[in-house]
Amino acid sequence: MCQLRSIQNFSKIKDKKVFLRVDFNVPISGGRVSDTTKIEKLEANIKNLLNSNCKIIFASHLGRPQKNGKTGLSLMPVKQMAEKIFNQQIKFLEINQETKQKIDEGKEKLFMLENLRFNPNEETNDQDYAKLLSSFADVYINEAFSCSHRSHASIESITKYIDSYAGSTIIEEVKALEKVFSKSEKPVACLIGGSKISSKIDLIINLMPKMNFMIIGGAMANNFFKNAGFSIGKSLFEKNVENTINKIYVEADKYKCKLILPQDVVCSKKFDQPGVNKKINEVSDDDIILDIGIASTNKIDQILKDSKTVLWNGPFGLFEYDDFANGTNDLSRSIAKYSKKNGLISVAGGGDTFAAIKKSNQQNNFTYISTAGGAFLEWLEGKMLPGLKVLENK
Ligand code: 3PG
Repeated sequence: MCQLRSIQNFSKIKDKKVFLRVDFNVPISGGRVSDTTKIEKLEANIKNLLNSNCKIIFASHLGRPQKNGKTGLSLMPVKQMAEKIFNQQIKFLEINQETKQKIDEGKEKLFMLENLRFNPNEETNDQDYAKLLSSFADVYINEAFSCSHRSHASIESITKYIDSYAGSTIIEEVKALEKVFSKSEKPVACLIGGSKISSKIDLIINLMPKMNFMIIGGAMANNFFKNAGFSIGKSLFEKNVENTINKIYVEADKYKCKLILPQDVVCSKKFDQPGVNKKINEVSDDDIILDIGIASTNKIDQILKDSKTVLWNGPFGLFEYDDFANGTNDLSRSIAKYSKKNGLISVAGGGDTFAAIKKSNQQNNFTYISTAGGAFLEWLEGKMLPGLKVLENK
């Protein structure tokens, strides 16, 4: 579907300076990186490049400095963490006219640029900024699938000025997504959770023709309950989404995709009070729906048992609270169990989904988990990501 230019042969880049666009947009608390997944993911790539005697120039953004100010958004803490993880010294550099010379003269093998978004020209995809960035290296490799939905200078324009490739983490991510989308083994089930139906409608509509089961959970499902005339008490819902809901029913019918909604839910009066499992017609006016119920997770377990492929995006309850994490944990464990036992191809993605899978400690038991948020969704919505488009084999 998407043929990307990749480095087939590392001898091609031997002794070169490599501009490595990475996603080091990581959580930082108390001046320290609190989740190292995105950095650790690159360990093998760094080893390969170092074995080819390359100089590596890490380039990433962190947060939204143009909107929120630069304070707390320097990549310095990331550099310190990356030095520990890669067990190598990294030279930290501001981005300016002297950067190239410092890289050329530096004895180090690893360099890290300061936050690309400190300069407003990054987000405007400015050609001069892209040229400046490209001048630092001989070769450009994009290892940031999760940023490839942005038409930014370090993602899109830079590729006009330098020999450019998709890195192995991008190739792997696209392959995993194709396994659940264009080249999926049937039956294929899709689990979509989260709170806003309006943010997932394009995704659901685009996936529907490819799926045998569309399973909807999380606060999104409340709109379906309300639409069907059930009380949802004080639960979260979105206004003016009746047409969206109707469209989903029509499309499900058209493509013979089974739409599955929870039959029972866990309700509470307050977030800090344990919940009660109720059938959907038992929710009272002062209840808040906070998790999917037991009968529903059992039903989904049976669907997963008979499926060959599953795609999961979005938690099925307020999993950040232990009392309401059980449904999401159960689903995570079911997917993990059948991935191991039945060879279920399981692909999950999105920041919250990844956090939920980690909470259930099943992160090593899925076929593939994407750490991408927006890019993961846009790819599955059928949009061409600008960062991938410029790396396509012509
Ligand atoms: C991510 O964390 O999903 C990527 O780094 C993209 O970040 P952005 O939404 O700030 O572009």
